Amino acid sequence: MPAVSFQNISKTYATPKGELQALRSVSFDIEQGEFFGLLGPNGAGKTTLISVLAGLAKATGGTARVHGHDVQTDYQAARRALGVVPQELVFDPFFTVREALRFQSGYFGIQKNGAWIDELLHSLGLTDKASANMRQLSGGMKRRVLVALALVHKPQVIVLDEPTAGVDVELRQTLWQFVSQLNKQGSTVLLTTHYLEEAEALCGRLALLNRGEVVALDRTSQLLKRAASNILRFKTDDVLPAELAAQARITGRVVQLPANDALAVERILAQVREAGASADDIEIRKADLEDVFLELIQGSNAAQSAKTAQGAAA
Ligand SMILES: Nc1ncnc2c1ncn2[C@@H]1O[C@H](COP(=O)(O)OP(=O)(O)OP(=O)(O)O)[C@@H](O)[C@H]1O
Ligand SMILES: [Mg+2]
Repeated sequence: MPAVSFQNISKTYATPKGELQALRSVSFDIEQGEFFGLLGPNGAGKTTLISVLAGLAKATGGTARVHGHDVQTDYQAARRALGVVPQELVFDPFFTVREALRFQSGYFGIQKNGAWIDELLHSLGLTDKASANMRQLSGGMKRRVLVALALVHKPQVIVLDEPTAGVDVELRQTLWQFVSQLNKQGSTVLLTTHYLEEAEALCGRLALLNRGEVVALDRTSQLLKRAASNILRFKTDDVLPAELAAQARITGRVVQLPANDALAVERILAQVREAGASADDIEIRKADLEDVFLELIQGSNAAQSAKTAQGAAA
């Protein structure tokens, strides 16, 4: 039985501007014990999919299951198997950290949870904040508490929606150590993040969501093989020839272009020279997940635009 199963999930929001289709027939399974990454640009539908799983949003179509429990018809069992760290910082300002954790344990019907609460506080570096009021905590501390709250009932499936947004390097490391340890002990992890380095390092498989559709799903190592294997990087103050600019990733002065072999490198540099432009600090590096990600998103956007244009012409 998969840990998580999405079958043809669609979700439409009614907005003042009309209907917005946030998810379009999303289907995939996450096996028990996997460390799975859900990636995608802002607005792709990641949080919506997680909200459907957590029973916080009702899918317009399709079914979602946690350890075989339908999130609609078998909500309590599904919710119990799930620990969700939400993207938004939501908390009750009147509780202390320990009270909040006790209250959450009570919600799941767990009476004597002190030992596990202490362990959570310790592992997340919160021990000296246990008696602090939630509203006295910094943003990063609140996020740690959200992680502890999600884990208080020892869920089989841990869902983390952007857990490291706005979090310092130290906590990121503590958090990943802790979550990896739980994963090694058998917990399934579903993670969304915009830090692609984290996804590359942690996740065995990745799904890429774009405009509500799964556009790629594969083992991380396989996805990495898909894009150009080498990237030529240089700096310039000049305008690039249009043909190069169209393929390039440009950040300020830094230009990055796929270039798999020496010939491709020579060709690009010749084009730059012929255009009367300069190229400084030239280097060649291995392609990473960000390169793959951008290539796939660009491809998917182009395909969708072509489909829309075709539809308009028909
Ligand atoms: N409650 C809502 N009402 C109307 N539209 C919504 C609602 N929640 C989300 N949306 C829209 O649905 C789409 C998907 O949003 P979602 O929050 O799932 O994206 P996301 O992939 O989590 O993005 P991010 O990386 O920014 O967190 C967006 O276009 C968003 O504006
Ligand atoms: Mg989101």
